[in-house]
Amino acid sequence: MTSDRSLRGRSRRSETGEKRGQRGGADKPRVAPWAQEAAPRWTVFSRVAAGDVSAAQTPGAQAEAGTPDFATWCRDTAARVEAALADALPPADAVPARLHEAMRYASLGGGKRIRPLLVHASAELSGASAQATSAAACAVELIHAYSLVHDDLPCMDDDDLRRGRPTVHVAFDEPLAMLVGDGLQALAFGLLGRAGLAEPGLPTAALVTELAAAAGSAGMVGGQAIDIESVGRRLEREALEQMHRRKTGALLRASVRLGWMAGPAVSGDEAGGRALDAYADAVGLAFQVIDDVLDVEGDSATLGKTAGKDGEAGKPTYVSAMGLDEARSLAMALRDEAHRALAGFGERAGRLAQLADLIVLRKS
Ligand code: IPE
Ligand code: IPE
Ligand code: MG
Ligand code: MG
Ligand code: MG
Repeated sequence: MTSDRSLRGRSRRSETGEKRGQRGGADKPRVAPWAQEAAPRWTVFSRVAAGDVSAAQTPGAQAEAGTPDFATWCRDTAARVEAALADALPPADAVPARLHEAMRYASLGGGKRIRPLLVHASAELSGASAQATSAAACAVELIHAYSLVHDDLPCMDDDDLRRGRPTVHVAFDEPLAMLVGDGLQALAFGLLGRAGLAEPGLPTAALVTELAAAAGSAGMVGGQAIDIESVGRRLEREALEQMHRRKTGALLRASVRLGWMAGPAVSGDEAGGRALDAYADAVGLAFQVIDDVLDVEGDSATLGKTAGKDGEAGKPTYVSAMGLDEARSLAMALRDEAHRALAGFGERAGRLAQLADLIVLRKS
């Protein structure tokens, strides 16, 4: 039986009047004028972040001599991730070319790269090799990019705009968008496997297991299933938290854990691992609480995605459950919890502390 919801999604037309799934292809993407910014979104984002983070006076925000400031570190790390992703993705002209073009469209030239930044920051603590760090960072970002493509589909959140551009099913078509997600997911696990082949000491099985758990039915996909079946319902605080911890928290947590697990310094440091888990749990939940807040407070141009969608779709969110002020206060409390969890690492965890600030103070 087809639900009303999916019928609604399928019958909606884009602003140009064309029906979903009937667009010509990637050569004619519909890009809003304000979205045609010269700089990639993460550059804009890290500039915004720099102002916010120095205002927050995070421990470690005052960079030591010779250490790049946080905004520079974000920009340089994101640029490295961008290059590594561009390298890992199949060329746009490799057969089947339209699929590969769409996979690149979904993954490159946009996004804040928060998850890769978390991988890199925790890898700095664990001493992971540059290659292992890069593979883990790309793997988690590819899973995230796939989750966005599927999240935006008409049968899910039915969104036209993502990262300041038309969503994949709008720029290409729906069947291809589904396959893009599938292809990105397989590529993510392939990258981890290849990193293990190149670096025999890497705990590849553990990394793959970690990412699979975070991406799967107990993690992101499970959270998305709860999200979809909760439309129009009011969730109790605990149920809401469980949904958010799965659909968004799980991949953020995995980002922190992958960077940690990939390094040699971690064996035997159980207390360090527990502290990082506590940090990751806090920022993982805070991230989605702020996403809920920004859906109400933000505007589409800044967010790069359609503002006000949650209310329109009847999604239970932290804002609908407790209001804007309390949701923001909760995010700040989670940020403080994340900072406390890092205390034992001292200044070595400065980047992670700054990322916790960024996650709650961001504007997009
Ligand atoms: C958006 O994630 C989807 C959620 C899990 C809330 P991001 O806000 O990290 O999206 P990008 O990667 O920057 O586009
Ligand atoms: C998405 O949550 C979480 C994912 C697993 C992609 P949302 O549906 O709130 O994310 P946005 O607001 O569309 O980015
Ligand atoms: Mg969603
Ligand atoms: Mg959505
Ligand atoms: Mg949202």
